[in-house]
Amino acid sequence: MSIKPAHAAQTLFAVVDNCLQVGGIALTRLAQRVGQTPFYAYDRALVTQRVQLLRQHLPPDMELHYSIKANPMPALVQHLSGLVDGLDVASSGELKVALDTGIAPENISFAGPGKRDAELAQAVAAGVSVHAESEREIRSLARIGAELGIAPLLVLRINPDFELKGSGMRMGGGAKQFGIDAEDAPRLLALAGQLGLDVRGFHIFSGSQSLKADAIVETQARTVNLALALAQASPHPVRTLNIGGGFGIPYFPGEMPLDLAPIGAGLQVQAARVRAGLPQARLSIELGRYIVGEAGVYVARVIDRKLSRGQVFLVTDGGLHHHLAASGNFGQVIRKNYPVAIGNRVDAGEHEVVSVVGPLCTPLDLLAERMALPHADVGDLVVVFQSGAYGPSASPAAFLGHPSAPEVLV
Ligand SMILES: Cc1ncc(COP(=O)(O)O)c(C=O)c1O
Repeated sequence: MSIKPAHAAQTLFAVVDNCLQVGGIALTRLAQRVGQTPFYAYDRALVTQRVQLLRQHLPPDMELHYSIKANPMPALVQHLSGLVDGLDVASSGELKVALDTGIAPENISFAGPGKRDAELAQAVAAGVSVHAESEREIRSLARIGAELGIAPLLVLRINPDFELKGSGMRMGGGAKQFGIDAEDAPRLLALAGQLGLDVRGFHIFSGSQSLKADAIVETQARTVNLALALAQASPHPVRTLNIGGGFGIPYFPGEMPLDLAPIGAGLQVQAARVRAGLPQARLSIELGRYIVGEAGVYVARVIDRKLSRGQVFLVTDGGLHHHLAASGNFGQVIRKNYPVAIGNRVDAGEHEVVSVVGPLCTPLDLLAERMALPHADVGDLVVVFQSGAYGPSASPAAFLGHPSAPEVLV
């Protein structure tokens, strides 16, 4: 008999009297406090604990950066700005959120393809590290630096000739719109030198959402190999080396949490190599979802309970328009269920197989498909776990004109 794979156990949030607790507050009470459903809630203590866990494994001189794209909620970014060593932004909007926290500008980095000249000028004026992804950006930065009379803090984002194996999203290796192809880097390093730019170092990101510790360890070693080779071609000493991240979290049945111990051991080795080979370099990793993803829940209320040809549908007030990823439409090839619970009846009563849907008139608006959950009725609260990253900011909130979902940090 084959055993169906299950979701990894949800143990981060406490349960009291069958009610999920977020930030020490019962979900039913929190829903009253928010005053409406659906909403997103992020547990501040869980975010703090996650950073502490990472620190236990990272080499002491390795910097931990938070990628704001995973969750740009200003209060959350503010909280993290006091815990991490740097913030990575991908737009002028994210740059504003990062600067508003008061973190030192040199601890902010701005990467991403297609940066407009106006954004580059803002970043240079702000004094943040600008990660150039093309020859055009290098030339623009030289011109903007001269116009503003401010030397840009330039780092080259490199598209490596390898990828992070087993990652949900491959962002390096092959032909990519991200970064400068590693083989083209020597030419552009020379060009930057000729343009009078000081290239401070390299940013090498090769993938995201990997649950394979051995693949991450291998990629980090190859990343350091590449950085050491590129340093030979650089007219300037390397002072910044961002080796990417890619640490994943378990979303789907059968997935297990990432084992940080081997990654930490591997990073000790890589940090030693960087210390020896690039003695002036500040070494960093950048993580988004690993820091915030498991600390967040999406909460929607059951509005209707329908039986259609023998199947139960819990129709909620939330769905794809707030949480595209949980609906299976944010890059997934095969739709699978996120972990879902009835937040005010976590272990209560008989289970039944139901589909949880939203109010949009599309069959894509699905939060759980044929999942065994405790019997739920109109008014009960459906919780989608693993929702602290790529939630509202990665969802089509305007689609069909329903109200947006507030976010709270508890
Ligand atoms: C350059 C870069 N850094 C960091 C991230 C964050 O990835 P994650 O949230 O999986 O850690 C991404 C994701 O696409 C990225 O492109």
